[in-house]
Amino acid sequence: MLDRPQHTPVDPSLDPFALAKALSGFHFIDGGYVPGRNGATFAVVNPATGIEVARAAEGDAADVDAAVQSAAKAQKAWAKVPARKRGAMVHACAALLKDHVEELSRLIALETGKALRTESRVEAGVVADVFEFFGGLGSELKGESVPFAPNVLSVTVREPLGVVGAIIPWNVPMLLMALKVAPALVAGNAVVVKSAEEAPLAVLRICELMNRVLPPGVFNMVSGYGPECGAPLVEHPLVRKVTFTGSVETGKIVARAAANKLIPVTLELGGKSPMIVFADCDFDKTVSGALTSMRFTRQGQSCTAASRIYVERPIFDRFVTAMKTAVDAMVMGDPLDEKTDIGTIVSQDQLAKVRGFIEEGTATAGATAHVCSAMPSDPALKKGLFIQPVIFTGLGPDSRLVREEIFGPVTVMAPFDDAEAVLAEANDSEYGLAASLWTNNLKVGLDLAHRLEAGLVQINQNLVVQANLSYGGVKSSGLGKEASLEAMLEHFTHKKTIMVNMG
Ligand code: NAI
Ligand code: MG
Repeated sequence: MLDRPQHTPVDPSLDPFALAKALSGFHFIDGGYVPGRNGATFAVVNPATGIEVARAAEGDAADVDAAVQSAAKAQKAWAKVPARKRGAMVHACAALLKDHVEELSRLIALETGKALRTESRVEAGVVADVFEFFGGLGSELKGESVPFAPNVLSVTVREPLGVVGAIIPWNVPMLLMALKVAPALVAGNAVVVKSAEEAPLAVLRICELMNRVLPPGVFNMVSGYGPECGAPLVEHPLVRKVTFTGSVETGKIVARAAANKLIPVTLELGGKSPMIVFADCDFDKTVSGALTSMRFTRQGQSCTAASRIYVERPIFDRFVTAMKTAVDAMVMGDPLDEKTDIGTIVSQDQLAKVRGFIEEGTATAGATAHVCSAMPSDPALKKGLFIQPVIFTGLGPDSRLVREEIFGPVTVMAPFDDAEAVLAEANDSEYGLAASLWTNNLKVGLDLAHRLEAGLVQINQNLVVQANLSYGGVKSSGLGKEASLEAMLEHFTHKKTIMVNMG
C-alpha cells in the first residue's frame, strides 16, 4: 500500500515557469504526487530558449508497479460505480479542465514550443471537449438480448477490461491522452499513463486536476523513458490492455510485447497523408486549407499532416506560389507570444531528423526547396529549435521525403494530370492515416474518397481528430479506432454473454 497523498496539490498558476518547477520530480500515483522511487530525474527543456524549466521523474519498473497496483485495486470499486455516474464524474473533470485551459495552454507551450495562440490554446480547449463528450456516454455501455430459445434469456453485457496502460507522444500529448483516458474511464477501467519524455508536465497537471474529482488510483501517471518505463507498463501482468500513439517502430515493439501476454492493443501510428487538389477547387479556400492541412502552426508535427500535396497541373505553379506567399506571412517566434504563428520543433533529436530530410531534398537533382517565413530575430531565442518551413517541388515518387514521415514543417508538392494516376500515387504508401480531396466535383471527390486507402478522408476540409468521429489508420498507420462511441465499446470493453435457462 502506498501512503497517499504524499504531496499537496500544486497551486494554479498562469506563470508556466513557476508551474513547471512546482511539478518537477513527480509521478502521480494513487491520488497524490509521488517522487520517483529511485530519485532519478531528467531535464524538461524550453525548446524556444534551450533552458531547463523543470526536472521530470525518471520512472522505472518499480514506479510502474506501484501505479499499476494502485490502479488494479481502484478499478474493482470503479467498475461497480454505475456507468452513468462514472460518466458524470468524467464530465465534471471536463468542467474543471475548462477552468484551467489558460494555465494548461501556457504550460504545454513552454514544454513543447507550440505557439500559444495558434496551437496550445486550441489543444487545451479540445481536451476538455473530449472529456465532456465521453462523459455523456456512460449509459451507452449497453448489451443486447439475443434470440436463442423461448425458455432461455440470452443477453450480452459490456465489461471493462481492467487496468489500461496508455503510452502517449509529445506532439499533442494532452489531446492524445484524453482520447485514451476518457473512454477507458467511462467504460469502467483504471488507467496508467506513461507520458512522453519531451512533454511530461501538462499531462501530469491534468492528471492531478482530474484526481480532485475521481477516486484515487483510477487515473495514475508515470514519466520516464520508453524502454525503462514504457516497456514495463506494457509487460506488467496486471495491465490488460495497451493503447499507444507514436512511431511505427515503437508501435511494433509494443504490439509484440502485448502479443506475448495476449492482450488487446490499439495503435495510432504515423502517416504520410496526401492532399489532392483539383483545378476546379475554390482556389483561395484550398490554399488556406493547405496551410491548416500541413499543420504549419504545429511545425508539421502531426501524424495527419498533408506532407504530400498533389495539385492538378493547370493550377500547380500558381498554387505553389500562393502557398509560399501565405506561409511567408506566418510569424515564427516565442511560443508564449500572442503574435506568434509558428513555434519550435520539440527537441534537438527531432530537429536533427527534420534537417536531415531538408538537406537530402535540397541536394536532390531537379528539386527546388522553397524556404518560407523568417527565423525570429529576438536574441533571447537564438538557441531555440526553430526551423523555417520548406515546400519542395521537383522530387520524384521514390524520394525519401515523399515516402517517409518527416514530422516537421516540410511538405512535397507535385503536379498531376488525371484522377486515376494521382489516386495510384496517393495509395502508393506504407501509411494510410488520412487524406483530403479538394474539388467542387463531388462525384469525382466521393468516388476517390471510397478508393483512397486511409482511415479518414475529407473533402474540402482537413480537420484534426474530432470527438464522435472514429479515428485511426490502415496499413502501417495503426490498428483500431479512437475518439468515438464505437472506439470506447470495441477497445475498452469486452462483451460477455450471459444465458439463463428458465426451464
Ligand atoms: P516514439 O514512438 O519512440 O515515442 C512515443 C512514446 O512511446 C513515448 O512515450 C516513448 O517514451 C514511448 N516508448 C518508446 N520506446 C518504448 C518501448 N520500448 N516500450 C514502450 N514505450 C516506448 O516516438 P518518438 O521517438 O518521440 O518520435 C519518433 C518519430 O515517431 C517522429 O519523428 C514521428 O515520425 C513519429 N511520431 C508519431 C506520432 C503520432 O502522432 N503518430 C507522435 C510522435 C512521434
Ligand atoms: Mg523513440
